[in-house]
Amino acid sequence: MDTHKIIASFLVFSYFLFMVSSADICFHAACCPNEPVIRFPFWLEKQQPKPCGYPGFGLFCDSTTNLTVLELPVSGKFVVQGIDYASRELWINDPHDCLPQRLLSLNLAGSPFTGVYYQDITLFNCSFDYTKYRLNPIACLSGSTYTVFATSSERAMRVLSSTCSSISTISVPVEWPFNEQVLS
Ligand SMILES: *[C@@H]1O[C@H](CO)[C@@H](O)[C@H](O)[C@H]1NC(C)=O
Ligand SMILES: *[C@@H]1O[C@H](CO)[C@@H](O)[C@H](O)[C@H]1NC(C)=O
Repeated sequence: MDTHKIIASFLVFSYFLFMVSSADICFHAACCPNEPVIRFPFWLEKQQPKPCGYPGFGLFCDSTTNLTVLELPVSGKFVVQGIDYASRELWINDPHDCLPQRLLSLNLAGSPFTGVYYQDITLFNCSFDYTKYRLNPIACLSGSTYTVFATSSERAMRVLSSTCSSISTISVPVEWPFNEQVLS
């Protein structure tokens, strides 16, 4: 499985549940039958009346793909992969399938969302042949002459920092903290 897909399914946010009486009049909506069901405090801004949701929880349907879209005030558009109303968690991914790229500048400021856990992950830009190191490269950030890896393992960091240039250490919202075995 691609590295960024693993991170994507672990990317999770919690939100605060607010109750308003007008929620009763709002029916459950979705961008298409396979997409997450949208209900309070989320709402589809172009299809439902304002009282159906809460500020900051407005979602859109992409007109060409029918995917559910969340637009964060600073970091822009993400595809909503799932909403767990009981645990108040939201899973998002990059619409262009390069979540690591988006995580490099992820900023939740101005939104009602926060990471459940944060894990520091360091990205490295390497020029060696990675296949002998049993690391999974981040394909969407790599080129023909260089390979990008991400790790939260102290051991992998020590090895990589001696041969690669460090791009940045980012604080990634994850569902639970990874253990040390995760190498990329
Ligand atoms: C999006 O939804 C519309 C209306 O339900 C449908 O006609 C169209 O085929 C869908 N497009 C895609 C890409 O699924
Ligand atoms: C990695 O390094 C190469 C050159 O060594 C550079 O062209 C590329 O932009 C770098 N990639 C990232 C993501 O920093």
